[in-house]
Amino acid sequence: MTGSGEVFHINTRKISPVRGPVAMSPAAEKRAQQIIAQYPQSRSAVMPLLYIAQEERGLITQEGVEWVSAKLSIPPVQVWEVATFYTMYYKKPVGTYHVQVCRTLPCALRGAKKISEFLHAKLGLMPGEVSADGLWSFEEVECLGSCGTAPMCQINDVFFENLSEEKLGKLLERIAKERPDLRLSTVRDELGAGLAGAPKSEII
Ligand code: FES
Repeated sequence: MTGSGEVFHINTRKISPVRGPVAMSPAAEKRAQQIIAQYPQSRSAVMPLLYIAQEERGLITQEGVEWVSAKLSIPPVQVWEVATFYTMYYKKPVGTYHVQVCRTLPCALRGAKKISEFLHAKLGLMPGEVSADGLWSFEEVECLGSCGTAPMCQINDVFFENLSEEKLGKLLERIAKERPDLRLSTVRDELGAGLAGAPKSEII
């Protein structure tokens, strides 16, 4: 199952500039200044600032891009170049729990296609779609850097590894019931508590 993940990418030519200066929450503005101060060249902070813009708005918007652009004194197009390259920046709305299934070779050889097909059957979603209740979205992405524990997926900002259909099914049921915080907050500089008892890494 491949192909329709393109809905998570966008044509930036269709986006109009925002009128006037953009401001984020006071906590986000403060954190952005702390991050920028860590770099000899402020433009190097583009990725963490994009995370802040995404955390504040739920996805990457033109408004968020212009905020990053103004903070770093670089053109908005250079911010979009980074945002559109990486799948961890959401260009379209995603569900409360966004499941990214790795489909690159090591995961493919270990059954990633079955994982995608299982998600399609379980959630009724094709890659790139969001469930009607807004709880789930699903996307196929390239290598997430956890090839040694293939097949794997990332749900929000947490890895789930050595997957089988049965294992993922149980994980989804627990997440739907327990609603764990699986997000990384760049503003607070901390990862959510995660799913109780789930290991941070299964590499042994
Ligand atoms: S190929 Fe799937 S994590 Fe690298």
